[in-house]
Amino acid sequence: MQKRIPALLLFSLLFYCCNSPKKNTSSSFDPYHYTGSKKVIAENGAVVSAHPLASKVGVEIMKAGGNAIDAAIATQLALAVVYPNAGNLGGGGFMVARMSDGKTFTLDYREMAPGKAHRDMYIDPDGKVRNDKSEDGHLASGVPGTVSGLLAANQYARLPFEKLVQPAIDLAEKGFVISKREASSLNGLQEELKKFNTVMPVFVKATPWKEGDTLVQKDLANTLKRIQKNREAGFYEGETANLIVEEMKRGGGIITLEDLKNYKAKFREPHSFDYKGYRIISMPMPSSGGLLLQQMLKMIEDKNIAAMGFHSVQAVQLMTEVERRAFADRGEYMGDPDHYKVPVDMLTNDVYLQERMKDYDPAKATPSVLVKPGRLPKAESEETTHLSVIDKNGNTVSVTTTLNNSYGSRTVVGGAGFFLNDEMDDFSIKPGVPNMYGAIGGEANSIRPGKRMLSSMTPTLVLKDNKPFIVIGTPGGTTIPTQVFQTLVNILEFNMNTDDAVYKPRFHHQWLPDQLDVEKNFPVTVIDALKKMGYSINNRGTFGRLEIIKVLPNGKFEAVADNRGDDAAEGY
Ligand code: DON
Repeated sequence: MQKRIPALLLFSLLFYCCNSPKKNTSSSFDPYHYTGSKKVIAENGAVVSAHPLASKVGVEIMKAGGNAIDAAIATQLALAVVYPNAGNLGGGGFMVARMSDGKTFTLDYREMAPGKAHRDMYIDPDGKVRNDKSEDGHLASGVPGTVSGLLAANQYARLPFEKLVQPAIDLAEKGFVISKREASSLNGLQEELKKFNTVMPVFVKATPWKEGDTLVQKDLANTLKRIQKNREAGFYEGETANLIVEEMKRGGGIITLEDLKNYKAKFREPHSFDYKGYRIISMPMPSSGGLLLQQMLKMIEDKNIAAMGFHSVQAVQLMTEVERRAFADRGEYMGDPDHYKVPVDMLTNDVYLQERMKDYDPAKATPSVLVKPGRLPKAESEETTHLSVIDKNGNTVSVTTTLNNSYGSRTVVGGAGFFLNDEMDDFSIKPGVPNMYGAIGGEANSIRPGKRMLSSMTPTLVLKDNKPFIVIGTPGGTTIPTQVFQTLVNILEFNMNTDDAVYKPRFHHQWLPDQLDVEKNFPVTVIDALKKMGYSINNRGTFGRLEIIKVLPNGKFEAVADNRGDDAAEGY
């Protein structure tokens, strides 16, 4: 008996330690009491992401011997738990990376149209376009790519994959405390969740969510454990795949077991170019991001924009006209390069881009009706999330990942605990019909089985003197390339400090609709001057949550998280 008491005590202590809501066993941070920083200066590594806990996970992984790729994988998996709006298992994304030996690569883990998808699947027999079906519920989902992408990236990681999944499992299984913003976002979602789900997910709650509530996601933890144990087969085959397909059957979706088994992330050559001595490394098709960024930067390169000054009427007008022209090409020429021959060389040719600016008038707006997609020689035929990572050896990773809309299709896979994307809406569902971001397209981005929908995501790296200088990216639909463009111009041309470059109000033009979107607090004097020049101004709240790391002249890492959300920078 005497011997049994300590054993019982030990058992109780162990039980308490493993079940106590006060401590997360595998991490040094506490998911029930935490804060986030908007800015850190670090020497050994830094992570900026949409959520303080996800950024902390990334830094922990680097402290445990992981490199920037390990950290990016673990951070993205953690985001799938703590930032269900966009961090995901049921969506897709793009990674742009440069290893310390100079090797660069990009990973395309964009969703793919299911085998049963077809060009007119969102057009009723009477010709009515069904944006609701491409945006909401089961039929809106492409085949998810994230798990395949993260496992493909894992060959550049240093730690065992099992270790990279564990923090996400802990956060899902033991829960984490939600912020005021998250509570309000979940409360705003309740009706849609009831409408678009066949099995009520943990996010549905009888009484309103409030700041400080703990969100526990057991089904998601089990899905993560299956991925931890069986890697790709833990998601694309077996129980998880069955749960996805059963969910599809219950809700009228079309993703099959075969679609899931066939999904493979693809390594692609980065879309790279030089701008005034800087090397820009970004995402190629099927994201339009890198190409648009090149077009926009090249169209201002000879204009001495630095002399015009930040938020001067001249600079904003020039950048608006450049954005307008780049986006006119997007709808016509850009799509999945495995299904459509995208004339990348032509669209980035210096003479072509000069030609595009021939009708640019610094005194007035060029109406979009007069700006057609550029003419090429006949011969050549709102939620996403970004994370930026750097480690002490100078490995850099820029990842943008998404479910498309906030919480994607709003459908959670019953029994598997994760949201599915509504990325099918990024296809052009009918030529000339705008998608949820107002983007239009045609043949280049039409739906075909196995095709990947055109994206605007622009995860980007900038090198200076062939060394890492900037890691940058943001969510925001079609505003993504213009946000990255503006933030880079702020730093490279206007010499702004990093905080200002990120926090100052942004603007956006995408050719159609012919309007200039401006964030709140955009200078009224500039707006008034632009109106007089013929611009139609659309006040649009805020857009994007840009995450950036800049390498300072002393070699330290300055990591800045956007102040438009709960985003947080961590480093050590
Ligand atoms: O790939 C794209 O361009 C879109 N699906 C991104 C969506 C997005 O950024 C929404 N976030 N605010």
